[in-house]
Amino acid sequence: MTFIPYAKQSIDSADIEAVTQVLQSDWLTQGPKVAEFEAALSEATGAPYVVVVSNGTAALHLACLAAGLKPSDIGVTSAIGFVASANAIRYAGATPCLADINPETGLMTLETLQRAATRPKVIIPVDLTGSVPDLPAIQKWATAVGATVIEDAAHALGATYQHEGCIYRAASCVHSDMAILSFHPAKQITTGEGGAICTRDAKLYECLLELRTHGITKNAAKLSTQEGWWHEQQALGFNYRLTDIQCALGLSQIRKLDRFVQRRREIAALYDRAFPHMRLRVPEGVKSAYHLYVIQVPRRRCVYEELAKNNIGTQVHYIPIYKQPDFARFNLGELPGAEKYYANCLSLPMFPAMTDLDTNRVIETLQSILRR
Ligand SMILES: Cc1ncc(COP(=O)(O)O)c(C=O)c1O
Repeated sequence: MTFIPYAKQSIDSADIEAVTQVLQSDWLTQGPKVAEFEAALSEATGAPYVVVVSNGTAALHLACLAAGLKPSDIGVTSAIGFVASANAIRYAGATPCLADINPETGLMTLETLQRAATRPKVIIPVDLTGSVPDLPAIQKWATAVGATVIEDAAHALGATYQHEGCIYRAASCVHSDMAILSFHPAKQITTGEGGAICTRDAKLYECLLELRTHGITKNAAKLSTQEGWWHEQQALGFNYRLTDIQCALGLSQIRKLDRFVQRRREIAALYDRAFPHMRLRVPEGVKSAYHLYVIQVPRRRCVYEELAKNNIGTQVHYIPIYKQPDFARFNLGELPGAEKYYANCLSLPMFPAMTDLDTNRVIETLQSILRR
């Protein structure tokens, strides 16, 4: 019986050819593929400006800095999410604060956000599993309290949501100031490691471009002298660049995005039919991109171990961030929605190369475990 992992990249000969071409070209990094990949991401998300960076965590870090997050500030993110969103707040020296989630959807709500903090400087809602929280409501409140919204769309490339009769894309930044993406191999498309920040704001874009490359600018309008070689470090930045090798892979992958997301939705539909009472609820109007497929399952530990014995990989997304020992110093307490969600959540295998045969094997094995 072959092993079915919970997630897996899909790499084909076109991807390999695209990477090989860059390896034979003059540019391994900072060449033409970077701007081409950024343009493709802009088209896929609808966000006019995109800055690709070395990973999704770097994207969160730069987005927090571009938002002006400082040590005296508070940043809020979801208690159920990857640690990177809370860590980015900490990288900026600010205090992390965690909003509870609705255990039925796994998502932060306006109400849980408002309970978490009254005057946050930055709000990072997480598009858990590829679903999307109520971004319009979050953005409206953020505007009222002067906060910047950074949508953590690492799971959600290809997802859409509705607001007042219109359809919007995740990471389009219509209801956020910035959005971040990750191209880790488990995500909708991969560059190995990789990430991006999307925005509609030209000033944030300029700032992000500089922060990605050491804080250095070559923009003539900003320079004190005009010699051809002259450039200036005007802020403390980083080397968070993505290589042309990775961008070529990303460009090849993004051509298959619709197909990948479509296949994820087909697998989700099979799981939905098999486990209608265990699935996470996708909010009305949202079309999830299904980075993950999470169920709420009784006897979770036993199910996890039994599935592993049957060569089926599953994972828990996520342990509430406040349970991580390194967050103990922030006294973040326990949150009831996150506790309820975490007690039984389990991510079933979900990746585009999964066949119906694989999916049915997962379904039948799990059903037989649950009958015992
Ligand atoms: C929700 C979420 N945000 C951010 C990240 C960070 O992305 P990366 O692994 O590319 O640094 C991840 C990665 O798994 C994630 O799942």
